[in-house]
Amino acid sequence: MEEGAATPAAQSRLAVRRGERGDAGRICEIYNEGIDDRLATFETEHRSAKDIEAWFDAGLPLATVERDGRLVAYAVAHPYRARPCYAGVREFSVYVAREARGTGAGKAALEGLIELAKADGAWKLLSRIFPENAASLALCRKLGFRVVGTYERHGKLDGKWRDCVIVEKLIDA
Ligand SMILES: CC(C)(COP(=O)(O)OP(=O)(O)OC[C@H]1O[C@@H](n2cnc3c(N)ncnc32)[C@H](O)[C@@H]1OP(=O)(O)O)[C@@H](O)C(=O)NCCC(=O)NCCS
Repeated sequence: MEEGAATPAAQSRLAVRRGERGDAGRICEIYNEGIDDRLATFETEHRSAKDIEAWFDAGLPLATVERDGRLVAYAVAHPYRARPCYAGVREFSVYVAREARGTGAGKAALEGLIELAKADGAWKLLSRIFPENAASLALCRKLGFRVVGTYERHGKLDGKWRDCVIVEKLIDA
């Protein structure tokens, strides 16, 4: 009962907004937690705030989510390929601070990103997700992403082969 009552209250305090350059430090902290968890990305090296600032310099669509004024999640879309025919295809990632996972922040961030990406002329979002990443797959399913298929042995993380599930969503319909 208490849990059920707590969830809507927690969600009602979520505020979604476009990310700003001044958010780079906090976004970097959240991304680095995700890198350390070894469940979200092939990356193993921590990023710096400067790396994140480059995303703002490039004008990437980036949505943030705050709870009680603290940034707890972000979602960002990178170009998929440089070829002009793929200009509207973007590859997204979404990261929630460890302490805020499972409370609706990831969903809010990705919904915010879909709106920003649409406004930026994107027609499709896609991502590659480790099959073990149940939370990410559940989030994408919830927001209407389609599983395209699975890349086998797509890369090595800490010396171990990992598969990747590809998901996509047409966002301009
Ligand atoms: C994956 C991630 C972004 C999901 O965000 P989140 O805030 O934890 O998820 P939400 O609370 O918004 O939940 C979205 C949906 O997924 C489901 N879900 C969340 N965590 C889950 C889990 N561990 N297992 C199964 N389902 C889960 C929720 O139940 C919800 O569905 P519902 O509305 O039907 O209940 C977040 O857990 C995270 O940052 N993980 C580490 C980084 C990462 O893996 N990023 C994705 C790679 S790009």
